[in-house]
Amino acid sequence: MRKLILATRNLDKVKEIKEILGDLNLEILDLNNYSNIPEIVEDGETFEDNAIKKAREVFKIVKLPVLSDDSGLEVEILNNQPGIRSARFAGEPTNYTKNNEKLLKMLDNVPDEFRKAQFRCIVVFKTKNEEILAEGICKGRILRQMRGSGGFGYDPLFIPDGYEQTYAEMPQEVKNKISHRAIALKNIKPFILEYFDKI
Ligand code: IMP
Repeated sequence: MRKLILATRNLDKVKEIKEILGDLNLEILDLNNYSNIPEIVEDGETFEDNAIKKAREVFKIVKLPVLSDDSGLEVEILNNQPGIRSARFAGEPTNYTKNNEKLLKMLDNVPDEFRKAQFRCIVVFKTKNEEILAEGICKGRILRQMRGSGGFGYDPLFIPDGYEQTYAEMPQEVKNKISHRAIALKNIKPFILEYFDKI
């Protein structure tokens, strides 16, 4: 049974993860397929804490291999804010536009050379006997205005190093090759494959 459960209801993440893991020949479900799983409170102090908590809580209920993702944007001059608060930076419920506007306001007078930022993603693959973590980082900088309509979250404000387009302007296939999420998933893929090849 090659079933993998994504410990998220965020359809933007689900879409990217399914595209990046598309070659694994797995049946990939997410929490939108499970109405009995309560909202998981992300009260950890690190991406690692939150990713592990999501993986464990979902595994307890579904008892199938679980993959969780906790991710966010770290802006150097803001002491790595919004960080683990990326989703709720401008309050709840999550509003991507308000988050981007708040970030732009906080960086209002910050010159280009101090607008360095990175996206970080921690993924956890949890099975009955294993819990494996992997990380992906994508370094770049924050623009002065939003550009592009693809992707989600802070994508319209983030230009990865070595590129001219924001995450939101580049084709999704390009984001899915270079992103923090793509790198984390590339690092964890061999462990997922090994598990499913053994069973
Ligand atoms: P999480 O659901 O707690 O992991 O929060 C993820 C939040 O980080 C999202 O709501 C976005 O604000 C931000 N984020 C994570 N990954 C990305 C991405 O690939 N592009 C843009 N924003 C992202």
